[in-house]
Amino acid sequence: METELPVTTYRSDYRKPDFLITSSELDIQLDFEVCQVEAIHRVCRNSPDAVDLKLDCEFISVDSVCIDGKTLDRGQYDISEHHLTVFNVPDNFDLKIWNTVDPSRNTELMGLYKSKDMLCTQCEAEGYRRITPGIDRPDNLAQYRVRLSADKTLFPVLLCNGNLIDQGDLEFGRHFALWDDPFPKPAYLFAIVAGKLSCLEDHFRTMDGRDVTLHIFARDNDIDKCGHAMQSLKNSMKWDEQVYGRIYDLDLFNVVAVDDFNMGAMENKSLNIFNTKYVLADMKMATDADFQHVESVIGHEYFHNWSGNRVTCRDWFQLSLKEGFTVFRDQEFSADMGSRAAKRIEVVSVLRSHQFKEDAGPMAHPVRPDSYQTINNFYTATVYEKGAEVVRMIHTLLGAELFRQGADHYFETFDGQAVTIEQFVSSMEKVSDRNLTQFRNWYDQAGTPVVSAKSRYHAGSREFELTLAQRCPDTPGQTDKQPFVIPVKTALFSESGEKLDLGYGEREQVLCLDKFEQTYRFSNIESRPVPSLLRGFSAPVELEPNLSDQDLKVLLDHDDDPFNRWDSGQRFYLKDLLDNLDRYYNGYDLQFSPELTESFDAALTSHDQDPTFTALLLTLPTISYLSEQVSPIDPQAIQMLHRGMKIFLAMSSEAELFRIYHKCQSLNNGSPLTNEIKARDLRDRCLGYLATLNTEQTHALCIEQLNTAKCMTDSAKAMTLICGSTCPQKEQILADYYQQWKDEPLVVDNWLRAQAGVVDPDTLEQVRALTRHPGFDYMNPNKVYSLILGFTHGNPGCFHAEDGSGYEFLLEWIAKLDPVNPQVCARLVSVLNNWRKYKPVLKDRMHDVLNSILKMDGLSIDVREIVNKNLG
Ligand code: TRP
Ligand code: ZN
Repeated sequence: METELPVTTYRSDYRKPDFLITSSELDIQLDFEVCQVEAIHRVCRNSPDAVDLKLDCEFISVDSVCIDGKTLDRGQYDISEHHLTVFNVPDNFDLKIWNTVDPSRNTELMGLYKSKDMLCTQCEAEGYRRITPGIDRPDNLAQYRVRLSADKTLFPVLLCNGNLIDQGDLEFGRHFALWDDPFPKPAYLFAIVAGKLSCLEDHFRTMDGRDVTLHIFARDNDIDKCGHAMQSLKNSMKWDEQVYGRIYDLDLFNVVAVDDFNMGAMENKSLNIFNTKYVLADMKMATDADFQHVESVIGHEYFHNWSGNRVTCRDWFQLSLKEGFTVFRDQEFSADMGSRAAKRIEVVSVLRSHQFKEDAGPMAHPVRPDSYQTINNFYTATVYEKGAEVVRMIHTLLGAELFRQGADHYFETFDGQAVTIEQFVSSMEKVSDRNLTQFRNWYDQAGTPVVSAKSRYHAGSREFELTLAQRCPDTPGQTDKQPFVIPVKTALFSESGEKLDLGYGEREQVLCLDKFEQTYRFSNIESRPVPSLLRGFSAPVELEPNLSDQDLKVLLDHDDDPFNRWDSGQRFYLKDLLDNLDRYYNGYDLQFSPELTESFDAALTSHDQDPTFTALLLTLPTISYLSEQVSPIDPQAIQMLHRGMKIFLAMSSEAELFRIYHKCQSLNNGSPLTNEIKARDLRDRCLGYLATLNTEQTHALCIEQLNTAKCMTDSAKAMTLICGSTCPQKEQILADYYQQWKDEPLVVDNWLRAQAGVVDPDTLEQVRALTRHPGFDYMNPNKVYSLILGFTHGNPGCFHAEDGSGYEFLLEWIAKLDPVNPQVCARLVSVLNNWRKYKPVLKDRMHDVLNSILKMDGLSIDVREIVNKNLG
């Protein structure tokens, strides 16, 4: 393989396309090895100066090119590694191209590829060019008519976007299907699926009275696991009608589940393709958490039909236009379907553990990036999750009603167009008369702002003075940032926990911090209040509330904002963890605070109100978030400390943990009812603590939960905890578990991940052995994510072993995976981001690893971009 020179693409270089393809007729003969594509495109000149038509194309062979019925000779066009250039073309013409493509050799899972016995496509971001030459950029919208033909026994199902308008049998055991998509779309939304698939059918009646046929396709033995996805789809369709007034626009909606998929799912117009992980779910093989993930990803892809498909992105720098907005939409959908508080806490935990880390490292970029080498590296927590927070802030600033008007304005004005983030924001401005000029800094400036609070109470004037200040750390290529507009939702509590009137009967206010420092005054405040700031996490910032333990306790006990109540608890945990880390560095014994036990017990006692919320209160800050707070990072110390605190809490509340465990377990019948899900949630949190005691009694409890399991939630948790214990039957149990589940790849994934996460010096050897296990397959992204990333990303203490053994393993796997699937490999490499923050021994070794990667032959641009940014 030859090495490609990295080319940087800049947002400021955007130019509209020289030519446009307005419609494409494709005739594709499908087969595992040789697919033949015959394409007829209607092309028109879009810029008067353009002479040659340059089409994107990669990894395909072009056999012949024709303009308006005349076959061109080889001098009239040129084929290079990435382009097909047709010289001197007219203003308007029909372009006909014949090409072939071999899906069986496509291990990158981009373009047309083979997954087990089926064929499918992934075109976002730039995969269409691997199927047939085209104008593969999102601002070229074309109407497609596609005829698929294939062997009828190998490929009984033939799917494409839009409506099925004809189908029938052909000679030699073949058949065809003709699909027509009336909606113009960019090439990245094009999709094909062919194979032996079973179908679950249902129907949805739209609010304007149309009947939409819903199909979920999966392999035959999985079709009975599609019910939850179907219900989630119907809920999504209804929700988008109710909350956004957005109606589905075709009579057919298809979802297909595939085993081999780089990401979660893809919103191809009316033919969503999903990683099986986000479709298949029944109580037998999926956990309660899996059920929730299915619901949110089904929602996400469905919502793209408007936020992404009907209104699409002008260029890939606008990716957050569709992703940030759609994540915001799916988060709100999940909040409405289940517990709003729990969803918000989950979202913020993920943001803090992943996005804050990204924003503080060498890959930090604005929500709307300024440049990239490969767009594949920008499907990031910043574009998705921070992008969603930025949309949420607009929602907070405008209020639900104006936000809805803004969304209506956006969808109506730009329907059928490829637009920019700017046009989204200006829609919001138009309906609200609000000036969002400074707010736009959120899209341009990377880094997580820090907001720090100071306050004073003047007893004489009964005035409370709150000063908020913001600062934002430098990020690659960005220093001296302008202040952000930060909505800080605020309430005041009396020391006895009463929520105070801020004037005119209002008990909550959105303070809009838009300067580096601002002071807010509240009058008629009877006594020194405790401020509850950034309620509901009203902005993606790091807050320094500067509250005493006593004040934090007031919020922990009384705040009626569930997020802030939870967060006060997190601050207690975090403070104690950091104090103890200091003690450890200074050679003292760990000494966790007795107040911690008190609030832990208080949370346990309150479990009757909402077991899920209690479970969240009992959850410690993640190791990943904790690592962000310390410098330098010592992964072993952090992992040890984290576990130390869990053991401490388990010991001090052992009896209560057992009691609540049994109480919750007695409610469990293995059903998907909400009260049971909540009970299992708290039960497993209790069991997680108890298991850290690693006694015969706790082993027995885990084994009992496993042996009497009524659903996968029961067994998955028990198996994982046994795996992390010294239970003498552990090996047998793991072997039995595999035997029992070896035909359910998603359960095997979990089994692999559990073993990769064990905190033990032998884990690496175990992981190496598992890479040779029949349950592992390095060509399958889910398997790589579970076992390889389960170790590198999910087990920091072991991965960062001081002897460098984890890094050696990483290097071997980068060498092995990069030629196979650079997108997956790039995710693996990202474990080295932030290497500069580690303690010196590790930092030096990681630096060596980065240099060794650069020396690898034929390194992909995906991996090269990440490594270069780490070294730069
Ligand atoms: N648009 C998809 C989503 O947000 C993301 C996606 C799926 C993707 N597969 C991909 C992005 C492959 C890049 C490459 O749901
Ligand atoms: Zn998306």
